Amino acid sequence: MQRFENKVAFVTGAAHGIGRATVLRLAAEGAAVAAADIDTDGTAAVIAEVAAAGGTAVGISCDITDTASVDAAVAATVKQYGRLDVLANVAGHNLALDGEWARQYDFTFVGATRCIDAALPHLIESRGSAVLVGSISGEVALGTAPYAAAKAALANLVRNLAADHGPKGVRFNVVAPATVATDRFIGKEALLDELKAIYPLGRVGQAEDVAAAIAFLASADASWITGITLPVEGGLTTGPGHLLNLL
Ligand SMILES: NC(=O)c1ccc[n+]([C@@H]2O[C@H](COP(=O)([O-])OP(=O)(O)OC[C@H]3O[C@@H](n4cnc5c(N)ncnc54)[C@H](O)[C@@H]3O)[C@@H](O)[C@H]2O)c1
Repeated sequence: MQRFENKVAFVTGAAHGIGRATVLRLAAEGAAVAAADIDTDGTAAVIAEVAAAGGTAVGISCDITDTASVDAAVAATVKQYGRLDVLANVAGHNLALDGEWARQYDFTFVGATRCIDAALPHLIESRGSAVLVGSISGEVALGTAPYAAAKAALANLVRNLAADHGPKGVRFNVVAPATVATDRFIGKEALLDELKAIYPLGRVGQAEDVAAAIAFLASADASWITGITLPVEGGLTTGPGHLLNLL
C-alpha cells in the first residue's frame, strides 16, 4: 500500500520505539520522512534502515522542549522536501517526577503545541494531518498524575484544533497507547510478561501496532476522521470482564 506517495512526513521521537516504527511505516508506504529526535546517532541508524529498504528519509536534530529547535527542524524539512503533509509528534515519556507538573506539561503538552505551531502553515498549504501520541493514562487513572494529565490535555487540544482548522482541510487526532514494549522496558521483561494478563488480547503492544494506527489516522483512509482520541490498548479499558472469566 502506498498511501503516502508524494507526501512528506515529520516525525518526532524518531530514533527509538514508536517514533522509529512510525518512520519505517510511513517510508514503507511511500512518504519522504524527516526523522526528528535529540538522539542524532539514533536517527542516523533509522534513516539507514529506511534507505536499505529503498525508502527516503533524512535525520534532523530536534528537541521538542525548545521552540527554536522545533521551528528550525520543520523549516529544514520543508527546505529539503518542499512541502509537509504529515506531522507525527511521538516524542515523550513519563518523567516520573511526581509534583513536577510544569516540567512534564512543558515536555508533553507544550512540546506538541510547538510542533503544531511550526507545522501548521505547511499543513494548511497541503491540506495535511497531524497525529499526536497521547497515552491511555490520559483516559483512565494508571498513576503518575503529571504525565497522565498532560497527555489528557492533548485530547481537548485536537478537538479544538480540528474545529478551528477543519474548514481549511487540516485534521488533528491523538492515538492513546497502553503498554508498548519499547526501550523503556529494557531490563523489565518480567514486568511486561506479567502485564499480559490485564490485556484481553493477551499481549502488550508492539511499536508497530501504534505506528499502524498513526499511519491510518494520517492517511486519506481517515479523511473524515478528526478531533478524536483513538485508544490503541489491546482492550485494556473494556473493563475487568476477561479477568473475572478466569475465576
Ligand atoms: N511505551 C509505552 O508503553 C507507551 C505507552 C503510552 C504512551 N507512550 C507514548 O509514546 C511515545 C513514544 O514512547 P516510546 O515508548 O516509543 O519511547 P522511547 O523512549 O522508546 O522513544 C522516545 C524517543 O523520543 C526521543 N526524545 C526524548 N526527548 C525528546 C525531546 N525533548 N525532543 C525530541 N525527541 C525526544 C528519544 O530520544 C527517543 O528516541 C511517548 O509520547 C510516550 O509517552 C508510550
